[in-house]
Amino acid sequence: MNLKPKKQKMTKSPAAAHPLHGAALRPQVDSQSHGDASVDIGRLLDLVSAFSRQVICVVGDFVLDEFVSGEISRVSREAPVLILRHRRTESYPGGAANAVNNLADLGARVLPVGVVGEDAGGLKLLEYLRAKGVNVGGILRSAAWVTTTKTRYLAGWTHTTEQQVLRVDREPAGEVPAKLQAQIARKARLAARGAAAVLISDYGLGAASPSLVRGLHAKRVTLDSRYRLLEFRNAGITAATPNESEIEAAYHSQVGNDLGKLDDLGQRARRDLSLGALLVTRGKDGMAIFEPNQPTRRLSIHGSDAPVDVTGAGDTVIAVFTLALAAGATYLEAAQLANYAGGIVVMKRRTATVTRSELEAALRRDATAEH
Ligand SMILES: Nc1ncnc2c1ncn2[C@@H]1O[C@H](COP(=O)(O)OP(=O)(O)OP(=O)(O)O)[C@@H](O)[C@H]1O
Ligand SMILES: [Mg+2]
Repeated sequence: MNLKPKKQKMTKSPAAAHPLHGAALRPQVDSQSHGDASVDIGRLLDLVSAFSRQVICVVGDFVLDEFVSGEISRVSREAPVLILRHRRTESYPGGAANAVNNLADLGARVLPVGVVGEDAGGLKLLEYLRAKGVNVGGILRSAAWVTTTKTRYLAGWTHTTEQQVLRVDREPAGEVPAKLQAQIARKARLAARGAAAVLISDYGLGAASPSLVRGLHAKRVTLDSRYRLLEFRNAGITAATPNESEIEAAYHSQVGNDLGKLDDLGQRARRDLSLGALLVTRGKDGMAIFEPNQPTRRLSIHGSDAPVDVTGAGDTVIAVFTLALAAGATYLEAAQLANYAGGIVVMKRRTATVTRSELEAALRRDATAEH
């Protein structure tokens, strides 16, 4: 295998060439991979510098991630349970809202479209995004909807790592009602018009359906769908970012350690959905990217394989991947940037984001490490 840094073919350069251009480093590729996936850091930095000029629309299921932490103080006298003495409650955008939050921290202009309930969770989500300067005009508030809120209870002592002891989910009874779906579709069509890309974040609550996507006529559409990847065939998806277990579930098949099987399923999903590219995220095993008439490229993880918290890493991946494509990246370059971001975000506690400057710093560190 050729591990020599090779410049990738560049179509359009979004910004003036970066001084690190050609500093192609760290072949971000595992030993069994075929195809050259070496990284041109200068080119990736150029792409990042174009992030702030992009408008991205995000349509999907908005979730609030809550973390209630405290110390175990004693055993209750009322029942044989431990009492958690409340220390703090933190709330973060989750699901589609996490993708929005990541895009905002990467400097993009984000147009979120979806629905929240007229409840405390919905209010918190809107407040959080508003405070970041995100235009929340595309997020409906409805009494007919319940904001999905996932509350984790975390117990710890001063000198121990906290442990999740319970999770309580508040969820709507069914999918988004048809009337609301129609309103969301209308908002999505409007927002998609001015966007370089539409990111679909489908957590199974029904805000973003295949038929909504079909009516968008967007420049490019990226998809993360937890349960119904294949239902988006013929919907006009440009690229999708399932994790390995999602493509396994789609084809009722297990990958295990069989990379041949991964190749089969990846190529099959890419063909079935008529995608320009399929990016499969594989947790600690990195990523694999499938493109037509190209060998599979596998990327090994950036940084540590001992993550602090993997919550929402998939949202960060699709946010960076989509934004990079909007900025003119090839699919492989977009995957490489997403891979850096994935490696950074799993080192942060809670549902977290990667900022543009963190991404740039990681790229620069790799560049100087090589020189
Ligand atoms: N255990 C890990 N060690 C190192 N990196 C990890 C680990 N888990 C996840 N990552 C990073 O995060 C990326 C996305 O993670 P993963 O494949 O778990 O996505 P996901 O299951 O869709 O996540 P989500 O739970 O947000 O939906 C990986 O490609 C990798 O970069
Ligand atoms: Mg995911």
